[in-house]
Amino acid sequence: PGSRMPFVSITKEMAMGTAVLGLAFATGVLAGKKYPFWTFGFLRSGKNIFGRGSPLRKYISDHSLREHPVLKKLRLLTLNHRCGGMMVSCDQAQLMANLAKLIKAKKAIEIGVFTGYNTLNMALILPDDGKVVACDINEDFANIGKPLWKEAGVEHKIDLRIKPATQTLDELLAAGEAETYDFAFIDADKESYDDYYEKCLRLIRKGGIIAIDNVLWHGKVLKPSKNDIQAQSVHRLNEKLFRDARISISMLPMGDGVTLAFKL
Ligand SMILES: C[S@@+](CC[C@H](N)C(=O)[O-])C[C@H]1O[C@@H](n2cnc3c(N)ncnc32)[C@H](O)[C@@H]1O
Repeated sequence: PGSRMPFVSITKEMAMGTAVLGLAFATGVLAGKKYPFWTFGFLRSGKNIFGRGSPLRKYISDHSLREHPVLKKLRLLTLNHRCGGMMVSCDQAQLMANLAKLIKAKKAIEIGVFTGYNTLNMALILPDDGKVVACDINEDFANIGKPLWKEAGVEHKIDLRIKPATQTLDELLAAGEAETYDFAFIDADKESYDDYYEKCLRLIRKGGIIAIDNVLWHGKVLKPSKNDIQAQSVHRLNEKLFRDARISISMLPMGDGVTLAFKL
C-alpha cells in the first residue's frame, strides 16, 4: 500500500518477444507481404545459398547423398561428356528412387534416357523381376551407360526402346498396359511434355507417381517469350497441372525444378 504499481507488469523476456514480433510485422514478414530472407534458399541479394558450389549445397550432399558406386562412376563419366549438363541432378534422382521404393514400384518409365543415370538409379531399386521402359531416340548416348548398367548387375531390368517416346508410350497402351506402371519420369523434348504427361497418366496406376523435370526451364517460365516454344510448352503444362483435379502435385525447387504428380 502506498507504493504505485505499474499499469501492466511484463517480464524482460516477454518484452523482448513483443519487440521481435513487432519488428516482424513492421517488415511485413508475418503480415504475408514478404517472405523471410531464407525462403527457397534465396537471400534478398538474389544469391541462392543452395546454389551449385555453395558450402550449404556441399553440406546437403555430404549429409544425404547415398550414391551407389556404379551410379557415381556413371555420373563422373557423363560429366565429361559435351552434353553432360543434360544429366539429372543426383539429389533429385535419389528422391525419385526413395519415392519409388516407398510405393513398392515394380514397373517404371523413363522418357529421355541420355547416358542412363536415372535409368540405372531406378533399375537399382526395382525388384529383380521389375522393369524400366527406357525411351530415347539417340542410341549413342545410351551406349555410354550400357556397360555400367551391366556392371551394376541390373541390365536385365532395362528395356531400352530407341524411337520417339510417343511411339513407345502408344505401343504400351496398345499392349493393354494402362494402369500397370508405378512411376514415370518425363525428361525429354519439352514440346511433347503435355502428350507424355497424358499418356503416362493413363499408364500409371492409382497411387503411382509422375515426375516432370525442368519445370522452371532455367527461370524462363516466368516470362516465356512468344517464339520460345520450349518455355511456352513447359509453362502451359505447369498451368494445366496446377488446375488438374486428377492429380495432387508438389513443385520442388530442385535441379531445374521438378513437379511430382501423384495419381490418387
Ligand atoms: C535431359 S536428357 C535426359 C536425362 C536423363 N533422364 C538422365 O537421367 O540423366 C534428354 C534426352 O531426351 C532424348 N530425347 C529427345 N527427344 C526425344 C524423343 N522425341 N523421344 C525420346 N527421347 C528423346 C534426348 O536424346 C536426350 O537423351
